[in-house]
Amino acid sequence: MTASTQPATAAQELYENSAAIYDRHNKDTTTTIARFMLALAPQPDNDSVILDNACGTGALTFSLLGTFQTTHQSGRGPPSVHAVDIAPAMVDAVIRKSETLNVPEGVVQTAAMDAQNLSFADDTFTHSYMNFGIFFLPDATRAAAEIHRTLKPGGAAFISTWQTLGYLDLLRASQRIVRPRDTDEDLFRPMYSEKWFTEDKLRNTLIAGGFEDHHITVQAKSTALVGSDLDGLVGTILLPFGNKIDGWSQEERMRLRDVIKEGLTEEEQRRCSVDMVAFVAVAVK
Ligand SMILES: C[S@@+](CC[C@H](N)C(=O)[O-])C[C@H]1O[C@@H](n2cnc3c(N)ncnc32)[C@H](O)[C@@H]1O
Repeated sequence: MTASTQPATAAQELYENSAAIYDRHNKDTTTTIARFMLALAPQPDNDSVILDNACGTGALTFSLLGTFQTTHQSGRGPPSVHAVDIAPAMVDAVIRKSETLNVPEGVVQTAAMDAQNLSFADDTFTHSYMNFGIFFLPDATRAAAEIHRTLKPGGAAFISTWQTLGYLDLLRASQRIVRPRDTDEDLFRPMYSEKWFTEDKLRNTLIAGGFEDHHITVQAKSTALVGSDLDGLVGTILLPFGNKIDGWSQEERMRLRDVIKEGLTEEEQRRCSVDMVAFVAVAVK
């Protein structure tokens, strides 16, 4: 199966280049939400056919297999999981992790694939998960339509986005101190429209993709961005903005790190983390 032939987006490049360090920087941030999604009804069982769409290094896939470990040992195999991502380096990471964890052959099937153009047949999946992927897509409606198309009737999609990036205001305030000449236009911003911070954007994208409004529920769930220490936390906060600060002087980059650290609340400094809040949608076909 093939990935997109369209030009790579900034998100694609970022994740292709950061696959090797993704787990270190994300720690449990996305896994917390993956586990939350997996606990929502309808939960997968041994007969489910599951898509982990924009799977990254497999936070959802491996959380899912973890919950099936006992069942597997007792004789029934785990469900089949398709883990796909546009970044080949992410797909490789899933393959390597499957080997390290001795996941039985055939349980996790991987492919480099564009979420806007899934290579699966109509009505394939009972469960379709996409954890923090949809907002990166140039055509999120098309991705939602692909999710809808490939779900079996009665199957469920679970899609997460960010409601609050707990570091964004601090990042911008720090930039204002370090580079007072920067304009509002220059300020740090996510790689996607800030409309995605609203529930409506998620819900309306799913509706535009073919789901019915009354079959969609959206709820908020807290998690945290955690660093191994304060420097690690600042590195994690800055990871998606690497390109932006590449053009800054060495002195500005170092000062930025210090100003961010000083701007964290006492509690954030003690925990080496900042709070994040996700939206999690469940949409039934
Ligand atoms: C924030 S990561 C989330 C990864 C994983 N789902 C998790 O929970 O940790 C976003 C992922 O979306 C992938 N991605 C970006 N654009 C994509 C596209 N057009 N199709 C499929 N995946 C894409 C990136 O390569 C990256 O792995």
